[in-house]
Amino acid sequence: MPKQIARSLTAALLALAASTALTQKAAKLTIDSTKTVHPVSPMLYGLMTEEINHSYEGGLYGQLLGNHTFRGNWDLLSNGNAKAAVEIDKTTGPSSALPTSERLSVKQASPGNEAGISNSGFWGIPAYPHTLYHGELYAKTDLDSPLPLRVQLIGDDQVDTGVVLATTTVTVSPGKWQRYEYTLTTSDLEPSATNHIEFTVATAGTLWMQMVTLFPPTYNNRPNGSRIDLMEKMAAMHPHFLRLPGGNYLEGEKLANWYNWPKTIGPLVDRPGHQSPWNYWSTDGFGLLEFLEWCEDLHVEPLLAVYAGYSLHDVAVKPGKDLEPYVQAALDEVEYVTGDVSTKWGAERARNGHPKPFPLTYIEIGNEDFFDKTPGSYSGRFEQFALALRKKYPQYKLIATAAVQVSKAAEPDVQDDHYYKPPAAMFDWVHHYDDAPRNGMKVFVGEWATRSGTPTPNFGDALGDAAWMTGLERNSDLIVMASYAPLLVNVHGMQWATDLIGYDALKSYGSPSYYAQCLFAEHLGDQVVKSSIDGAGDKFFYSATLSSDIKTLHVKLVNASNHSQPLDLNLLGAKAGVAKMYSLHAGNFQATNSITKPELIMPVESTVQIAAQHTVPAYTIQVIDIPLQ
Ligand code: AHR
Repeated sequence: MPKQIARSLTAALLALAASTALTQKAAKLTIDSTKTVHPVSPMLYGLMTEEINHSYEGGLYGQLLGNHTFRGNWDLLSNGNAKAAVEIDKTTGPSSALPTSERLSVKQASPGNEAGISNSGFWGIPAYPHTLYHGELYAKTDLDSPLPLRVQLIGDDQVDTGVVLATTTVTVSPGKWQRYEYTLTTSDLEPSATNHIEFTVATAGTLWMQMVTLFPPTYNNRPNGSRIDLMEKMAAMHPHFLRLPGGNYLEGEKLANWYNWPKTIGPLVDRPGHQSPWNYWSTDGFGLLEFLEWCEDLHVEPLLAVYAGYSLHDVAVKPGKDLEPYVQAALDEVEYVTGDVSTKWGAERARNGHPKPFPLTYIEIGNEDFFDKTPGSYSGRFEQFALALRKKYPQYKLIATAAVQVSKAAEPDVQDDHYYKPPAAMFDWVHHYDDAPRNGMKVFVGEWATRSGTPTPNFGDALGDAAWMTGLERNSDLIVMASYAPLLVNVHGMQWATDLIGYDALKSYGSPSYYAQCLFAEHLGDQVVKSSIDGAGDKFFYSATLSSDIKTLHVKLVNASNHSQPLDLNLLGAKAGVAKMYSLHAGNFQATNSITKPELIMPVESTVQIAAQHTVPAYTIQVIDIPLQ
């Protein structure tokens, strides 16, 4: 669990007392821990990701400056009587991937009358006390002598308006484009997000700049790494895989914008970036290797989705010759992920700084290809990808994103199903897989969410999600993996309502649903045990699993009703006495956490006496760990 349950137990109990006035009739819950039904899929809970809602740029990607490859001008700055102009120069840049640059033409400047450019990050640049920031930039000047370029992190807080929080100087040499590194160190200050950065000169002349980055410390101190608080939040979810890189982000809006992974690896200056389908530019600073290192840092497997020739608003690539380059790109991508250094792409990965191959079990072919309405298109595309992948890599399991009619040799191992529903519909959907055929093909619920809260799930959504997870666990002989989507949202840059973890430049918070998912995953168990319920209200849900190693029964109880649910318990094979309970509760569906009230709804840990009766209060999720006999 993230930070153990700081909220006052007294307050929680008062809230519970107030909401237990209405009671349903008692239901009989029988759980027989001596009889296992089937194993729980060990990879059941994982994460799904894509560039949406500023998930990376302005989110997980540690880089703090907005528009760092100058897809538009930064703000012009002229102190005192400085005279300057700024524009995009399409004739020069530091690399073929970044052939344009920001040109600052300074007619007049002097100390105290500096000219330059400024950047306010993604809704602010976070300033932390006593912190070392690292940056790089590419620059050139038309001057014959070295040009001092001053870099300043400046506070915009009401108290600290204009205060310089950190400063350094980069000396730009005359001549060709060159790469420069710089550092900024803050001293004592109140953490804040309301800050900007300035790059200024005090001399007339022309300065070109490109690829200007700034990083605070990152998770595991990775260069070009990830934001620490978000990584910690994901680690607390106990995930087993990361589905990457999308979602629609894999497909792009047009064919030209597919996730062309070789353009996302190598030095940042060699990554051209691309238009993401979520209406903003992706620099690809957070590229394929960064995704894989994210997996490594969380100790999870990548679940690699390969582009399958279908983009959102374009005609799909025809199976056959036209599709071959995309199939080859997928084969190369798998080699980049898993090949040893003697392979072409394994060697490339080593050159990029990661000689060790990554683990892989599942490859997904495309995303939501049921949107491709051309008859037979996905079946044809899937067949071609599957045969090529199976020929070279028979060891991997293949996931289809829609029903396919293919030859035996190309049959998918798993189908990816997606569900987005409001709370009431999600409650109705909980038993969807209970009677589904067990005919060999497994299910991956690659995207799911109960959606009503904005920007993050409210408590009604958390109840829907917890209810749904009881169904995932009960059916985990069929459902091998599941991942909520979308995972991340910058609260200033939301594009899709209801996203699991919210943040701004400085802080982040878990939604009630996030905490429900942490609880379920942490207490997953490895066997589903025999159980039955009789007489419960229609908004009551449960799951019963056990962990063989720690000899513990995990009972998950979800009461989404405004009436409390008394239970007559018949627990076979469990020890009577004291058990540990984790509760998540709110007074209604609308209650939620937010960037200003991040910990309103948090799990409360307590002990319960396991007796013949147990009552689940209204609007409550409980996870109870009961020792086995
Ligand atoms: O999760 C948001 C979007 O929903 C995904 O990009 C897409 O796969 C689905 O339609």
